[in-house]
Amino acid sequence: MERDRMMAERVDLPDADATRLPRLFTPLTLRGVALKNRIVISPMQQYAAGRDGLPTDYHLAHYGRLGMGGAGLVFTEALCVSPRGRLTYSDLGGWDDACVGPLARIVDIVREQGAAPGAQILHAGRKAAVQRPWHGFDPLSGIDIDERGEAPWETVGPSALPANPGWPTPREMTRSDMDAAVAEHAAAARRCREAGFDVLEIHAAHGYLIHTFLSPIGNRRSDGYGGSLKGWMRFALEVADAVRSEWPDDKPLFYRISCIDDEEGGWTIDESVELSRALGERGVDVMDCSSRGLGLRGTPVVAPREQGFQVPFAERLKRDTGLATMAVGLIMEPAYAEGVIAEGRADLVAIGREALNDPNWPVRAARALIGPESYESVWQPRHGWWLSKREKSLEAARRERPAE
Ligand SMILES: Cc1cc2nc3c(=O)[nH]c(=O)nc-3n(C[C@H](O)[C@H](O)[C@H](O)COP(=O)(O)O)c2cc1C
Repeated sequence: MERDRMMAERVDLPDADATRLPRLFTPLTLRGVALKNRIVISPMQQYAAGRDGLPTDYHLAHYGRLGMGGAGLVFTEALCVSPRGRLTYSDLGGWDDACVGPLARIVDIVREQGAAPGAQILHAGRKAAVQRPWHGFDPLSGIDIDERGEAPWETVGPSALPANPGWPTPREMTRSDMDAAVAEHAAAARRCREAGFDVLEIHAAHGYLIHTFLSPIGNRRSDGYGGSLKGWMRFALEVADAVRSEWPDDKPLFYRISCIDDEEGGWTIDESVELSRALGERGVDVMDCSSRGLGLRGTPVVAPREQGFQVPFAERLKRDTGLATMAVGLIMEPAYAEGVIAEGRADLVAIGREALNDPNWPVRAARALIGPESYESVWQPRHGWWLSKREKSLEAARRERPAE
């Protein structure tokens, strides 16, 4: 089959001795897409879109500077597959054909800076209809109507179980709701294809719609979409099939999951292995290994953790399924990131908040791991040429300085 042939062509780690490059800076080809290095900018919602879900100038500046920073792959924030599936009124949307042109501008800007552009698609399920983080991240209520004209909307989920105590109870989805949500994911994938993205990721983590179907904590259904691993996985696999059918065979599909719920009776890493195997058979190329988030307070972003705390999940899925994996979560130091790739624990590392702190993190990592010569090879010449020249003149001045 064409798809299998393309997967078999996935280029593995080049011989590091031959390239003399740190593994973090070796290329990776997934299907027909060549990534120049193993550094990925993780999807991060910016809550900067208009109510129509369309990007603004902010997004062009934001993704442009991330593209310039030297990563091999830059993901957009989650593009919501329907207005109901948004977290907030300012989420980016993938639900209307009007998004294709503006998203194509983001694609062009990222690609022109030398990175591959990736998109992520999401339905927020029972965690939809919340305030922006800096307004509280709580469900929309009367105060949001008064202050910003932002009324809550009805949320949906596999079962009528709220995300957190005191949160609105979602409406249990009917069969036709589920079919519609699957079709919305496929339509958003088609729009991402039309916009020209190189990589697509399905967001099935952090307590959003697909995750609530997967987890026995969010899913009490008795209609074949719950009750057993096969039932819990069914909706997630239907989405994967529908999205794959819209996503080109020569472009890789990533799938982000919460590898564990870390809660009594919740989803486990063994189940993530089974799910990943089934996704691999459906044409998913990379498992993006996050964790937790069924309740808002438990997301990796807010709970105290240590560097690389989710790497063991990427390592386990890679070892047990043979799929490529992406590690994410508090990866901050270049030497640590290099170790993750060099030790074969994951194929890619995703950088989130550290890239907000320093959009040039990949360039900084190259300077740390390769040395000043990286300025010319890793950074674009408009910057690299000058920085390399500065480095050489500083070095010359050091040599000429009389010994003290
Ligand atoms: C501002 C912000 C927005 C985020 N939005 C998304 C998102 O749209 N999709 C997603 O899968 N994860 C999202 N995340 C999670 C990140 O992709 C990443 O998994 C998490 O921040 C952990 O990585 P880090 O420690 O490098 O930041 C977001 C995180 C932050 C900080």
